[in-house]
Amino acid sequence: MAIVLSGTALSAEIATIRDRSSTIDVFRSAVYRIGLHLAVETSRHLPSREIHVTTPIETTVGEVIDGNVIVVPILRAGLGLLDPFLKICPNVTVGFIGLKRNEETLKPTEYYRNLPPSDSSTTFIVIDPMLATGGSMTATLALIRELPHRKIIAACLISAPEGIGRIAQDHPDVLIITAALDRQLNNDGYIVPGLGDAGDRLFGTL
Ligand code: PRP
Ligand code: URA
Repeated sequence: MAIVLSGTALSAEIATIRDRSSTIDVFRSAVYRIGLHLAVETSRHLPSREIHVTTPIETTVGEVIDGNVIVVPILRAGLGLLDPFLKICPNVTVGFIGLKRNEETLKPTEYYRNLPPSDSSTTFIVIDPMLATGGSMTATLALIRELPHRKIIAACLISAPEGIGRIAQDHPDVLIITAALDRQLNNDGYIVPGLGDAGDRLFGTL
């Protein structure tokens, strides 16, 4: 299942990250603010439980996240979304998966993995700006689903229908939350209209 966010404030930020003339600081800060939108929506899908809280006036019922949460940015571009997720969900732990897509075969190669311990109460949130062919995301989800967990959510800035379809087929139980759903991939495996290469635009390696 996929949720595509909407809203005018969000659309304005998405136009900014698409714009090829946005400078690195403008691009990064728009990614940060879109990340806040994604993190707030993601938080609505975390397991929760009731608590009782006593105000100066009376005792009432509140709601808190149930179980622990591990946020997993896919290196390197996923780092651009980490800070907004930590801002909205401050008590999470963070795991890292390093993947690089071969630009000819479009297949990802893993170069780094470091994940905190999980258990049957754990929700994993995998963050990556771009869901293109879905190869990087499906490889990450495949290794996470072998670990103890309760729920897995994938959060992306821009997704292609091809990537959404791949995750729906390989991991039908994973909820995808995306800020935009674009038209298609081009022959080079880039999202159209997209924003170009997210990692290069975040880190200046054009
Ligand atoms: C980009 C992006 C995703 C992947 C998406 O990363 O951040 O991880 O490509 O493409 P896919 O859905 O076809 O797998 P890239 O491999 O370029 O590495 P980077 O984050 O280091 O730039
Ligand atoms: N990776 C990116 O950074 N952008 C795309 O459009 C596809 C893969």
